[in-house]
Amino acid sequence: MRNSRHHFPLAVDRRTLLQGALGTGLFAPYLSLTAATAQTTFKANPFTLGVASGDPAADGFVILTRLAPEPLLGRGGMAPQPVDVTWEIAADPDMKQVVRSGIAMARIEFAHSVHVEAEGLEPARDYFYRFRSGGVESPIGRARTLPAPGTQLVQVKFAAAGCQAWEGGCYTAWRAIAEESFDFVFLYGDYIYEHAFAAVDREGRPFARVMPNDFFICFTLTDYRRRYALYKSDPDLQAAHASCPSCRASTITKSRTTGRPRAMAEARPPTRCWSVAQRRCRHGTSTCRCGVHCCRADRIC
Ligand SMILES: [Fe+2]
Repeated sequence: MRNSRHHFPLAVDRRTLLQGALGTGLFAPYLSLTAATAQTTFKANPFTLGVASGDPAADGFVILTRLAPEPLLGRGGMAPQPVDVTWEIAADPDMKQVVRSGIAMARIEFAHSVHVEAEGLEPARDYFYRFRSGGVESPIGRARTLPAPGTQLVQVKFAAAGCQAWEGGCYTAWRAIAEESFDFVFLYGDYIYEHAFAAVDREGRPFARVMPNDFFICFTLTDYRRRYALYKSDPDLQAAHASCPSCRASTITKSRTTGRPRAMAEARPPTRCWSVAQRRCRHGTSTCRCGVHCCRADRIC
């Protein structure tokens, strides 16, 4: 089921709230939300984090991207103003048969991310999509709708991906997933880890990748956005997201900064080794931290 759009519950009426806010200058950084969006030009490619789709249904799916010419900076290198982003969904990989299109606003408060819920599509077939802003086109992504309810299923081809630590190894499993043209990827583990950077793993071995030295434990929204950007900068991960939709479980994600109760950790469903990931894993099944899940069934990492 696809997520609903963003909502802002208000306890006072909009006129009162806006008058008060304007009087105090409280919302000064966001005043541009009510102004026309800027005709932006970019000094660098704004689609550095790639494209993705998710939450497939029989009649559509969500497509996403984020404008971030300099993804590891606090605002991703974007000016503090909203930006229009054109989106297209086509029936063919060359984007010649466009079946849906529109303009979405990349808002400041959402770090210039774009979330489009496409509907009215045909069930059980491939579609292709892309974004455009400031004269720059994103990579083309592939998504696939689910079969119509009640349809006799012949086969379902999907990957399952769990915990991934960016610094733990290269994302070769994600590259393998990208090359398989799955119907969808089921994500059930930690997508990021918010701990401070380290140079060696638990056994004292050097990590395959070292985070920038200003990556500490995540506390602020900016910290988390930079951490996601670092992970999403991986080309293999981007390729996997562009290759098929993702379905995310309402997983229980451990938070070192919030102190999740142990009972919740133990409520995590058992996991198993998934063939696509495991055959590419170079660390073995019990100590792997290299990306797509191949941990032991009883491991809580
Ligand atoms: Fe984990």
